[in-house]
Amino acid sequence: MKVAIPKEIEKEEHRVAATPETVKKMIAARFTVAVETGAGKGSSVADREYEEAGATLVSSVQSLLQEAEIVLKVQKPTLNETLNRHEIDLLKEGAVLIALLQARTSPDLLSKLASRRVSTFSLDFLPRIARTQNMDALTSQSNIAGYKAILLAAERLRKMMPLMMTAAGTVAPAKVLVLGAGVAGLQAIATAKRLGAVVEAFDTRPVAKEQVESLGGKFLSIEVGGRHEVEDAGGYAKALPEEIQRKEQELIQEHVEKADIVITTALIPGKPAPILINEKAVRGMKEGSVIVDLAAEAGGNCALTKPGQEIVHNGVTIVGLRNLPSLVAYHASQLYARNVLNFLLELCPKATLPFNLEDEIFKSTLVTHEGKILLRQEAS
Ligand code: NAI
Repeated sequence: MKVAIPKEIEKEEHRVAATPETVKKMIAARFTVAVETGAGKGSSVADREYEEAGATLVSSVQSLLQEAEIVLKVQKPTLNETLNRHEIDLLKEGAVLIALLQARTSPDLLSKLASRRVSTFSLDFLPRIARTQNMDALTSQSNIAGYKAILLAAERLRKMMPLMMTAAGTVAPAKVLVLGAGVAGLQAIATAKRLGAVVEAFDTRPVAKEQVESLGGKFLSIEVGGRHEVEDAGGYAKALPEEIQRKEQELIQEHVEKADIVITTALIPGKPAPILINEKAVRGMKEGSVIVDLAAEAGGNCALTKPGQEIVHNGVTIVGLRNLPSLVAYHASQLYARNVLNFLLELCPKATLPFNLEDEIFKSTLVTHEGKILLRQEAS
């Protein structure tokens, strides 16, 4: 079967869905692989490396996509402004598309994909279970976002991160507060600790305490009642009852005032991000402090976050950039490409049809198929 890897055309997207390493493995698994010329440039991968791995280079994206039975992408398809044609219109009818589609927020795209009878797998619906760990693109990319969030904040802060004892006296370490200790939050804690900061973290799931403490952070807690108040059966956070929400905001208000850096990552799957830092809390923060709001795409955990932008409010820098993994494109692509490869090999182990659509993994991620939109009820 023919697999195609086009160059990503979304603005600010430097990642690519396959690397020479994964191309080699696809070819070993009997796929034929074609890569658009320049597809790896943003990730520092030269065309020559793809050729050496056994891929064919194709300069015209139209021919590339017209020939392909399977298309691997990072971002959802979008308008190709150079050709003035939508990427979906360039796909062969009945092709398979695997990408991080953000399908919940893209109903128009789904109709378009269904009308071209594309079988679309949206990796953001992958269930977080043991069997999918090596395909879990959200996790691999969130991990990178947590790391990069600290570096962005450190770069903007007019202070150093570590404690320094110098001949000119002692410099106190920076104080970092991380809200939401899931994948991105835990990596932010680990990165801040490596740079020498003093780290506090808060999460509504009591189980996060042990993880935060194992990384050297101090866990902030509030009385939440039973575990079922804050977690669903799958261990994911639930929207909080009003009383707990109020307690949380009070706790956060007290701690953001002392923080130099606040990283927010709180997310409830499928819901707008909860507001954890309101305008009053930002007003109470120190001049020169920095918030990096990783939940910007879902509206933001800070009431003042402008998705996609960086602003300064009352001397506080609020970063709402949407695509941090793309700023570390080399490794983000390396991990994403491995996730996609593992998904593809599980979906289609013999590189032939039919796909194994009975499996829970593929049922969860398949969002369009045979002309229909299959988005699950609870995901919409
Ligand atoms: P995750 O689901 O692993 O972690 C989210 C955490 O937030 C969970 O531990 C949850 O318990 C916690 N949480 C939920 N409600 C809370 C509340 N009210 N107070 C405190 N904690 C609460 O998610 P992951 O993968 O770590 O992603 C975190 C965020 O980062 C998401 O919004 C995701 O979309 C975003 N992200 C942003 C990127 C960017 O470039 N801007 C890149 C990758 C992820």
